[in-house]
Amino acid sequence: MGSEPIFVPDDQRYALNQFEIPKKYVKDLSSIMISSGQINNRIEKLAKDVNEVYAGKDIFLLCVLKGAFNFFADLVHFLDKYDDTFGFDFIRVSSYDGRKSTGELMITEEHVLKNVVGKDVLVVEDIVDSALTMSGLSYIPGKEITGGLIGLIKKYNPESVRTISLLTKRTDENNGYQPDFAGFSIPNEFVVGYGLDYNQRFRSVPHIAIMSEAGIKKYEKKK
Ligand code: IMP
Repeated sequence: MGSEPIFVPDDQRYALNQFEIPKKYVKDLSSIMISSGQINNRIEKLAKDVNEVYAGKDIFLLCVLKGAFNFFADLVHFLDKYDDTFGFDFIRVSSYDGRKSTGELMITEEHVLKNVVGKDVLVVEDIVDSALTMSGLSYIPGKEITGGLIGLIKKYNPESVRTISLLTKRTDENNGYQPDFAGFSIPNEFVVGYGLDYNQRFRSVPHIAIMSEAGIKKYEKKK
């Protein structure tokens, strides 16, 4: 029991001028896929679903930085309406370089996981793409992890581990792993906004948006 994602059709695109968006982003983006209003309302429902599944239990939310920071903040806001209490912490994980998953999971704050012992852990993620981050055969330099971040968390003996992701991407590269709670299933496109970045930019765009060719070129990583 969890939340099935809303299916976003392959051709769902809103023109930039159909929603409010800061002018500074207009040249770098081509369209909006999911508006901030839809995101907000969906998260309110996800919080309700989470509350029902964990009824009467303390949840330990583990926010995966940096991408999930917006989603996490809004989820916490809506969870706070309910009587059950919860704790949380943050872990920084990166496996992405530009627009392609690198397949190498980098975790710089493994010590945070000492806090999950005996807890009902809910991992809060921005997007599941290949799912290497969550459950792939990845490694921290000097240490091999089987089962990605979930595998690593399990080594610290939590009571349970579930995941919630705002987005899941429909891609053939997904390794079969899907989150327990998911906001939207999106087409296989690179998206930015609402926490998601392109080379560390566009995280503060309020909507889930698609970049323009000009924006992609402008902020390409210099080799
Ligand atoms: P995965 O390991 O391939 O599932 O990728 C998960 C991580 O890659 C996410 O937490 C994001 O940080 C990043 N990512 C995947 N797809 C996108 C995207 O379309 N835009 C921005 N970041 C993405």
